[in-house]
Amino acid sequence: MSRLSALTDRVLTKEIKIRKIGVEDIPEIVSIQESILQKKVSKKWVQMVKNHLKKEESIGFVALKNGQVVGFIIGQIKGEGFGLEQSGWIEVVGVHPRQMGTGIGRALAEKLFQFFKKEGIRDIHTAVRWDAGDMLSFFKAIGFDRSVFINLSKHLD
Ligand SMILES: CC(C)(COP(=O)(O)OP(=O)(O)OC[C@H]1O[C@@H](n2cnc3c(N)ncnc32)[C@H](O)[C@@H]1OP(=O)(O)O)[C@@H](O)C(=O)NCCC(=O)NCCS
Repeated sequence: MSRLSALTDRVLTKEIKIRKIGVEDIPEIVSIQESILQKKVSKKWVQMVKNHLKKEESIGFVALKNGQVVGFIIGQIKGEGFGLEQSGWIEVVGVHPRQMGTGIGRALAEKLFQFFKKEGIRDIHTAVRWDAGDMLSFFKAIGFDRSVFINLSKHLD
């Protein structure tokens, strides 16, 4: 990154405030996701967000610019399983297309990492579609690498 763009990024992220997510943020989160996908989100997606916000082991943050929600991240602490000790998971993350590339996704992820660290969690996981190049690049840029797992799936008729 050039020195100028690094400086611009810092100035832009300075305008951004991050706070804990709440149910009142759901309409704006849905609107961001619909802007990203360029289509309506399913009822199931909205329900998934609502369910996360109800769970004690879930945690989320929103990024605000001029008081408006411009990005969100939801994570979860999972207990032991898959041969892992307690671990942190990033479930969903999204930044409004107009604000992408200005450091908001990184700022949201770092806030979540701070939370996990305070909870004594050191290992953080997520899953990305194999063909989602932008998501892969983002996660790589914020320190993720291939995990020890491979995902398996089976379709039931
Ligand atoms: C992926 C996403 C969360 C990243 O948030 P963002 O605010 O745009 O990213 P940031 O500006 O914080 O970038 C952080 C790092 O990731 C990299 N990155 C982010 N988006 C990238 C992209 N599309 N391609 C390549 N690298 C990318 C940046 O280069 C940056 O690296 P650097 O800090 O070393 O320069 C956001 O762009 C997004 O919501 N994208 C849409 C995701 C999507 O398609 N969702 C639908 C399916 S679930």
